[in-house]
Amino acid sequence: MRAALVRVAALLWVALHAAAWVNDVSPKMYVQFGEERVQRFLGNESHKDHFKLLEKDHNSLLVGARNIVYNISLRDLTEFTEQRIEWHSSGAHRELCYLKGKSEDDCQNYIRVLAKIDDDRVLICGTNAYKPLCRHYALKDGDYVVEKEYEGRGLCPFDPDHNSTAIYSEGQLYSATVADFSGTDPLIYRGPLRTERSDLKQLNAPNFVNTMEYNDFIFFFFRETAVEYINCGKAIYSRVARVCKHDKGGPHQFGDRWTSFLKSRLNCSVPGDYPFYFNEIQSTSDIIEGNYGGQVEKLIYGVFTTPVNSIGGSAVCAFSMKSILESFDGPFKEQETMNSNWLAVPSLKVPEPRPGQCVNDSRTLPDVSVNFVKSHTLMDEAVPAFFTRPILIRISLQYRFTKIAVDQQVRTPDGKAYDVLFIGTDDGKVIKALNSASFDSSDTVDSVVIEELQVLPPGVPVKNLYVVRMDGDDSKLVVVSDDEILAIKLHRCGSDKITNCRECVSLQDPYCAWDNVELKCTAVGSPDWSAGKKRFIQNISLGEHKACGGRPQTEIVASPVPTQPTTKSSGSKLPSSQEKLPIYTAETLTIAIVTSCLGALVVGFISGFLFSRRCRGEDYTDMPFPDQRHQLNRLTEAGLNADSPYLPPCANNKAAINLVLNVPPKNANGKNANSSAENKPIQKVKKTYI
Ligand SMILES: *[C@@H]1O[C@H](CO)[C@@H](O)[C@H](O)[C@H]1NC(C)=O
Ligand SMILES: *[C@@H]1O[C@H](CO)[C@@H](O)[C@H](O)[C@H]1NC(C)=O
Ligand SMILES: *[C@@H]1O[C@H](CO)[C@@H](O)[C@H](O)[C@H]1NC(C)=O
Ligand SMILES: *[C@@H]1O[C@H](CO)[C@@H](O)[C@H](O)[C@H]1NC(C)=O
Ligand SMILES: *[C@@H]1O[C@H](CO)[C@@H](O)[C@H](O)[C@H]1NC(C)=O
Repeated sequence: MRAALVRVAALLWVALHAAAWVNDVSPKMYVQFGEERVQRFLGNESHKDHFKLLEKDHNSLLVGARNIVYNISLRDLTEFTEQRIEWHSSGAHRELCYLKGKSEDDCQNYIRVLAKIDDDRVLICGTNAYKPLCRHYALKDGDYVVEKEYEGRGLCPFDPDHNSTAIYSEGQLYSATVADFSGTDPLIYRGPLRTERSDLKQLNAPNFVNTMEYNDFIFFFFRETAVEYINCGKAIYSRVARVCKHDKGGPHQFGDRWTSFLKSRLNCSVPGDYPFYFNEIQSTSDIIEGNYGGQVEKLIYGVFTTPVNSIGGSAVCAFSMKSILESFDGPFKEQETMNSNWLAVPSLKVPEPRPGQCVNDSRTLPDVSVNFVKSHTLMDEAVPAFFTRPILIRISLQYRFTKIAVDQQVRTPDGKAYDVLFIGTDDGKVIKALNSASFDSSDTVDSVVIEELQVLPPGVPVKNLYVVRMDGDDSKLVVVSDDEILAIKLHRCGSDKITNCRECVSLQDPYCAWDNVELKCTAVGSPDWSAGKKRFIQNISLGEHKACGGRPQTEIVASPVPTQPTTKSSGSKLPSSQEKLPIYTAETLTIAIVTSCLGALVVGFISGFLFSRRCRGEDYTDMPFPDQRHQLNRLTEAGLNADSPYLPPCANNKAAINLVLNVPPKNANGKNANSSAENKPIQKVKKTYI
C-alpha cells in the first residue's frame, strides 16, 4: 500500500508539474475523415508497399516501394508508367532469405535509396531480400537499363522498416544505416570512411531521421541511447551529427575512419527550474530561411516526443543552423574514468590543430588530433532551441507527432511572413500550426493551431509530408503512409463554414484573408495580395482586426464540431473552441490519471487481498509454481523501485526529469491479477528425476 501511495503521489506531482506548462491550444477548425476532397495513389493493393519518398522535383515524386520505383505526377498523383523501374530479387536471394527465417513479405526488394547521378542516370539501392544491393540505371532510348550492380551493405538497410537515411552529394553517397543482418552494427558511411564499429560513444542504437547538406558539411539527425546518461539509467537523446564533405580519412591505420565526425545533443525542452525534455526526435524539416524578429536566420524544425512508455507528449522545436554550428565549436565532453561524470574537456587538454575541423587534407593530420576526435565525438553543450521553447506541445494518450513539413515564409497582405507547419501524427492526423509571434520576435512563442485534419483512417501513421508549391491555387500537401499517398489543399479559406470577416481573420491562417470587395475569405494567389492591406484584411498575430468591427471574443469559429463560447485564456488570444477530440488539457489529464490510478489500485488491492487469502487457504503443493507468491511480492517491489521518480537526479544531469512512468492501461492491473488467479486452470507439474 505504501508503494501505491508513493506512486499516486508521483503521478500527481507529474500531472501538476505538467499543468504549469501545458497551455491547451485547440484547433480553429476540424476536418473529419472523408470530409476533404483528396487525390490518391494506392500503389499495388495486393500487398503492403512500404512507401518511402525518395526524390521530389517540380512535377514528380519518386517513391520507393516493393520491387518497384513509382514516378508519380504531382498534378494529379497518377503514375508516369513510361519509364518504370521494376527490380525483383533473384530466386537465389529469396531462398537464402527464407532460410534465414524471414517471411515472404520480408524477402522482397524494398527500394530505400535513390539518387540522381545526372540527367539520365540514377543510383538505386534496395533491401533485396535481406541482402542489400545497389544498381546504376541509365536511360537508353526511353527505357532504364542496368549499368552496374554492387553490394549495398552499409548503404541500404536490410529491414525495410529500419530508420535509415541517405543523401547524394558531389558524386558520393552518404548513408546512415546498419551494416549487418541483425541490425546491431550502425554506421555513418561514405566509402571508404565509416564510424567506429561497436563504439557506443560514436553511435549507440541510433534511429536516423534525416540527412542534409549545408556548406561544407553533411548533417545527420537521429536519436540514440545516451552514453553520457548511462551511469544513471537508460535514456534516449536527440542528436545532430556532422561530417566534412572533403574528409579524406586519417593518416596510417585511420585511412578508413572519419576525422570530422562530431555530434551534439538537441535541447527541445520547456524551460523552468526543472526543464521538461522532449528527448526523442522523430523527424525534421528541410532548412528554412526566414525573417524572425528582424533577424534573417536559417532554421530546422523538428518533431520530438517523450519515450514510448511514458505519458504521450509531443513537441515541435526549431534550431538555427548558426547555433548548431556553434555547438561544434564549443568544448568537447568526456568521461575520464568508467565511473566519473561526463564533463567538459578543459581547452588546455584539446590538441592543436583543433580536432574535427574541415581541413584540406585530413591524411596529414597528426595522430594525436585524430585519436582525440575518435574518443571525443560528443560536444559538451546542447543546441538550444530557437524561440527559446517549443513552438507547439501536445499531451495526448491517443497520438504522437511523427513528421513535419514547413511551408516557408508565407506572405500576408500586411507584408509579414510566417512559416506554416504541417505536422503528421501516428493517428492519421495532420495538424497545421504556426508561431504567430515569429515575425515580430525571435524569442517568444505564441502557438496557433489553425486546423486539425483527419486525412488518413484513424490509427494509420503519417510517414511523410511534403509541401508542393505550384502556380495559382494549385499548391498542395502530399501525405505519405505505408500504403497510400494522398494530396490535400494547403488551406480551406473558401469553406462555406467561414462566412464573415471576423471568422476569416480569427482563423489566423496566412494563406487566407478577408476580401473587402468580393466579401469572402480568399486565399493567396486568387488574386495575389498586391491590392494591399485596404482590400485584404488579415492579422496573424492578433487574430482580430478593427476593420471587421467588434472583437471576436465570444465568436465561434467555423468548425463542424459543436462548440461553446469560450473565455479568453491567459496568454492566448485564441477563441479556442471547446474540443471534442481527445487532446487533454492539464486538468483533465491530472484527473484522468489520478482516477485511473486510484481505480486500478483499489481493484488491484482487493484482488490481491482475495488472491492471498485463497493462496493461504490452499495447499501450497497444489500451486503450479510454488514461487508465485514471492514473485508477486518481488514484482511489486521492483515496480516501485524501477519507477520511482524519487531517484535522486543524476549528478551530471541535475536538471533532467525522467517522465518514465507506467501509465496503467485502464484497469488492466486489477483484471490481470484476477484472471491469473482465477481463470487459469491449475496445471499439473511434471517432475523428472534424474
Ligand atoms: C501487384 O503485385 C503482385 C505480386 O504481389 C503482382 O503479381 C501484380 O502484377 C502487381 N500488380 C501491379 C498492377 O503491378
Ligand atoms: C518521371 O516522369 C516524368 C514524366 O515522364 C519525367 O519527366 C521524369 O524524368 C521522370 N523521372 C525519372 C527519375 O525518371
Ligand atoms: C523507426 O521509427 C519509428 C517511429 O519512431 C518507430 O516506431 C520504429 O520502431 C523505428 N524502427 C525501428 C526498426 O526501430
Ligand atoms: C535546455 O534548455 C533549457 C531551457 O533553455 C535549459 O534550462 C537547460 O539547462 C538546457 N539543457 C541542457 C542539457 O543544455
Ligand atoms: C587549402 O587549399 C586552398 C586551395 O586549394 C588554399 O588556398 C588554402 O591555403 C589551403 N589551406 C591550408 C590550411 O592549407
